[in-house]
Amino acid sequence: MTFTFVTLFSNLVEGYFNDSILKRAIEKNIFSVKYLNPRDFSLNKHSKVDDTAVGGGAGMVMNPQPLFDALDSLKKEDENVYIVFLTPVAKPFVQNDAKRLSNKSHIAFVSGRYEGIDERVIEKYADEVFSIGDYILTGGELASLVICDAISRNIEGVLGNSDSLTVESFETPLLEAPSFSKPKLYEGLSVPSEYLKGNHSKIRSLKLAMSECKTKFFRPDQLKKHCQGVK
Ligand code: ADE
Repeated sequence: MTFTFVTLFSNLVEGYFNDSILKRAIEKNIFSVKYLNPRDFSLNKHSKVDDTAVGGGAGMVMNPQPLFDALDSLKKEDENVYIVFLTPVAKPFVQNDAKRLSNKSHIAFVSGRYEGIDERVIEKYADEVFSIGDYILTGGELASLVICDAISRNIEGVLGNSDSLTVESFETPLLEAPSFSKPKLYEGLSVPSEYLKGNHSKIRSLKLAMSECKTKFFRPDQLKKHCQGVK
């Protein structure tokens, strides 16, 4: 699997892969990360990549030319590359998308800066367009990292224990039950006593009750799906 970040600011992205689980996955050749800077494709004599919006409007918009040429070169190198754009004007990214996209061989994340990307680029090249939430970031880089992280932990071999994938929140409509580590008693605060007794069927039903409680409090929309038996 390859992830290509199409961005003017690869420095913002690179650090995330320099430590922890994703660094180890790269060292094990489970996936690789590449960067493509649209500025390197700009035909403008000052390597400009943005301009004011046609028809008015605040801020600068990324020009089509550098992105068309960057994405053409990417497609020429790998015709199977799956091109994802990050913008707040899109459907929300969810766990099912993370699972589905973990089967692709090559995903390119195209990040906009400034007020966004000329719509013709999205129209021509997008296989899919995602938002990571109802708020506006200064650019798509963080959004592309969020999505890349969520996808990569579903690739076989990235997580040490693949069981962690099956009991997580959003694998079912219920949020995950709370977890505790050692010591069992810390500063007068105990883990739930049922967890200590080792009766696994009781622990399971307590965890289910706590999952339902958390879901009811934080995500009533998800609890509704659970009650309707939606997977
Ligand atoms: N770019 C700016 N804001 C964004 C968001 N919420 N999701 C994805 N890309 C973005």
